[in-house]
Amino acid sequence: MSRRAPSDNREVDPRVESWMRRAIAVAVGTQPHPNPRVGAVVLTPEGAEIAAGSHLGPGHDHAEVVALATAGEAAAGATVVSTLEPCSHFGKTPPCTDALISAGVARVIVGVCDPDERVAGSGIAKLRDAGVEVISNVLGDEVEASDPGYFHHRRTGRPRFRIKLAATLDGQVAAADGTSQWITSQEARADAHALRAVSDAVLIGAGTLRADDPLLDVRLPNFSGTQPLPVVLAGRRPLPAQRRLYDRDPLIYTPVPVERPVGTVLLESAAWLDLEAVAKDLGQRGLLEILVDGGPTVAAAVVAAGLADHFTFYFGATLGVGVGRSMFDGVFATLGSSLPIELLDISKIGPDVRIDAAPLQEVV
Ligand SMILES: NC(=O)c1ccc[n+]([C@@H]2O[C@H](COP(=O)([O-])OP(=O)(O)OC[C@H]3O[C@@H](n4cnc5c(N)ncnc54)[C@H](OP(=O)(O)O)[C@@H]3O)[C@@H](O)[C@H]2O)c1
Repeated sequence: MSRRAPSDNREVDPRVESWMRRAIAVAVGTQPHPNPRVGAVVLTPEGAEIAAGSHLGPGHDHAEVVALATAGEAAAGATVVSTLEPCSHFGKTPPCTDALISAGVARVIVGVCDPDERVAGSGIAKLRDAGVEVISNVLGDEVEASDPGYFHHRRTGRPRFRIKLAATLDGQVAAADGTSQWITSQEARADAHALRAVSDAVLIGAGTLRADDPLLDVRLPNFSGTQPLPVVLAGRRPLPAQRRLYDRDPLIYTPVPVERPVGTVLLESAAWLDLEAVAKDLGQRGLLEILVDGGPTVAAAVVAAGLADHFTFYFGATLGVGVGRSMFDGVFATLGSSLPIELLDISKIGPDVRIDAAPLQEVV
């Protein structure tokens, strides 16, 4: 149940939440970034489904237009349920509000008001001005959870960062000799590949590039979506000459010129890369959801820069029984420097445990 009550209007049909869940289900699984993941459903005035549609990315029709086209003349007098506020501006396609008004729909049910400054309530206002009934903010939390990167990016201008680490039950991500493959089971690793599948980019540091020679791609049976872009943070030391990842045209951020100029961004700094600048650049490239899949140095640096939005930890059913590499690099000097977090979910994956958490937001 959403924590927010639907805003608007007159009496709200008790079925609106189940209709919105259907629209969310239509959107889930699409990867249209930098555009939002949107699902729309056209219903008869009695609530029977006539058509559904989703948005597949820039240049493709928006979800409402896809659903209206399938519904045809049956859209007149219908209810349209959309996870996101319909747009009211000319982008790569004409405004969805115009399509809804000219199709003669009677009612539009909206999950979340679009934080994109080109919309931001103007779509809802335009529909109401045209005499269309609008019920807004239905299951807003669930809609946002179906595309967290989009909402985060439009509100902050930077992507959402999820740090993923796989550790022994006593918190070691690698043995002292650098070996870490594999701490967790096949089931947990498949689960982690599903995280890659909903990410626009997978980010590591040069240390992981050297140690693991990773591919950073989604390797799931039947996966046919867009592969996430590999991103490497280079240090001041030379990068390895040969790595499998180079065939995937990674984006390399570096503080010093490197021998691979293609796809490299030189962010000069006195020491290490300024992660704020990296985040800004990733956001400007339309990468909204970043999976940080590197080692303890990059994980600690992302936290220190205040960029960590979500943690997904996999704890393998094994103990290091000693210190190899702990999950975050650096010294835990005093309890006061610890990061308060909120545990969001704990689940068992095969023999292992998955914990999802987020930095605790200060209540002001
Ligand atoms: N269990 C897991 O989930 C997991 C995942 C990934 C890796 N690992 C293991 O972790 C070990 C590698 O650890 P690592 O800490 O060296 O890897 P890392 O965090 O991926 O890479 C660290 C390197 O990134 C570069 N870098 C550039 N800018 C940086 C910045 N602003 N902040 C931090 N780093 C920056 C530096 O390269 P330079 O060294 O060139 O200066 C730095 O040493 C390996 O044993 C690997 O198997 C485990």
